[in-house]
Amino acid sequence: MAAATAAGAAAAAAAVSLITCYLLFHNSILKFPWARTARPSCASGRRTRRRGLVEAIGNTPLVRINSLSDATGCEILGKAEFLNPGGSVKDRVAVKIIEEALESGDLICGGTVTEGSAGSTAISLATVAPAYGCRCHVVIPDDAAIEKSQIIEALGATVERVRPVSITHRDHFVNIARRRALEANKLAAKQRESNETQTNGLDHINSKMMDDKLATMQSESKKTQNNDQTHVSTKMPHNSKCDPSSDSKGCDPSSDSKGGFFADQFENMANYRAHYEWTGPEIWEQTKGSLHAFVAAAGTGGTIAGVSRYLKVRCLFIYLFVIYFLSGKYIFITMIPHS
Ligand SMILES: Cc1ncc(COP(=O)(O)O)c(C=O)c1O
Repeated sequence: MAAATAAGAAAAAAAVSLITCYLLFHNSILKFPWARTARPSCASGRRTRRRGLVEAIGNTPLVRINSLSDATGCEILGKAEFLNPGGSVKDRVAVKIIEEALESGDLICGGTVTEGSAGSTAISLATVAPAYGCRCHVVIPDDAAIEKSQIIEALGATVERVRPVSITHRDHFVNIARRRALEANKLAAKQRESNETQTNGLDHINSKMMDDKLATMQSESKKTQNNDQTHVSTKMPHNSKCDPSSDSKGCDPSSDSKGGFFADQFENMANYRAHYEWTGPEIWEQTKGSLHAFVAAAGTGGTIAGVSRYLKVRCLFIYLFVIYFLSGKYIFITMIPHS
């Protein structure tokens, strides 16, 4: 594909930056089997194994943008990430962040995922967390539209609206979200401690009662003693199962504090991995590898980084463009060097 064509296509794609991702193709539609056939199937194990809300995430269709394709002579496709249950590509990130945290043990079933976000990530975490038996707490600046809080709350999350301050301030909404996770962990540790103390106390009382009981029952039959002993149990049932595909209703997030986990989309590499392991392969599969360029807008940069890296591994000759705002005013498109 000629560089000029790629640049033209990128410029055209930037004109409609409301859709997250754009794939740019060259020339005839006949080259592209996915353009003629029914919706491509996604062979990802995730789709075959999962049920419910989590399974509904991903495998979003590619939609030909007729106006731009006709104007540029390139096949320009938008990946319809707004069709995810939470309305954006961030659903994938929420799934990956939560799954990795559960796997590492940093988050446990019934725990609270916290995030400082006034946007799509908050909505996605609020949408996805309950599917894993987790809670969600979102901290947003109080100059954000009240409707954002209402949407997040309607999804079952708690929202804390705070004064907007600089990111370097300890009370910036992102820093407060980080702190809330730490506080939830401290509270959980305290509760565990006091439960253990109570349990030890109960063990002591129970063993003393058992001794007394056994003493008075010395003359009774052995069978009776054994029966009594089987009823003395101070162990709490523990259910750490946190699989959204599980039918288990044993996980009760409302019981007591199970700790917190700060999602931290800007620093958490699970964000990038969601796109490297999921969005990128999906695009490759849907296009059967017939793509010449990829364009994405960047917030955290997770989408462009993850998808680009994957596409570069699969295809040596691909143009990659990132669209970003500077000072919230200017839109820039930059070509990513292949190295
Ligand atoms: C709907 C939507 N799509 C895409 C992005 C950007 O994605 P990324 O954070 O992966 O760069 C954002 C936020 O920044 C967003 O809100």
